Amino acid sequence: MKLALMTYTQVETYLQSKDSVIIPIGSVEQHSPVGLMGTDHLIAEEIAYQVAENIKIIACPTLSYGMSNHHLAFPGTISINPTTLIAVLKDIITSLVGHGFKKFYFINGHGGNIATCEAAFSELTREQDIRCKIKSWWMDPTIHQYIKEFFGDRDGHHATPSEISQTIYFYKKAFDLPIRDFQIDRSKHHWPLSPEGFKRQFPDGRMESDPSLATYDLGKKVFEKSVEVIQKDFLDFEGL
Ligand code: NI
Repeated sequence: MKLALMTYTQVETYLQSKDSVIIPIGSVEQHSPVGLMGTDHLIAEEIAYQVAENIKIIACPTLSYGMSNHHLAFPGTISINPTTLIAVLKDIITSLVGHGFKKFYFINGHGGNIATCEAAFSELTREQDIRCKIKSWWMDPTIHQYIKEFFGDRDGHHATPSEISQTIYFYKKAFDLPIRDFQIDRSKHHWPLSPEGFKRQFPDGRMESDPSLATYDLGKKVFEKSVEVIQKDFLDFEGL
């Protein structure tokens, strides 16, 4: 159930029996010469909408932008600073609290959002008796293990074949995949990196990943596994 496609009377009816909502969050940032700028928010959105449809829970419109400061040296990247993002998250949740929502489950596609979301949740739960969670799909142990079976240690940490595979599954027409070899650089670095530092360390935008392993079929598999696992995690969260 997409909030954007509901009327306020339908939301009113929903609130008579439920107080949970799912919010997809991602980023607009470079994903190597192969992956799409929207990779992180497109995946969060597809998982969120599928879970929401399966179990009749409202999913809000996607928060497409995220905290991507370290990717700003690559054209097209748009980043929201942590303090701005905290303010946006607080305004969204406070709006929904005013209508009677009490449980907020963020499905996340981007690692850079985690610390900021947690900080916003700490501020919000000091003020209001609500429940918030951020679930980063690729960090779930079951999904992580599943991905490892296909890509091993060439999944890496950014522009990963597991995420690029899913976007090929959703948006095949957007890809003109070059067949090329990617070298993996595992040299040590300090974190967080500045935009310049990131580009020095990871010149083509990948972080220890091999995007050439991405395929439509594996994308379908990883997506379906993610929906199954995250749906269960949501129900656990809702039932606490
Ligand atoms: Ni990503």
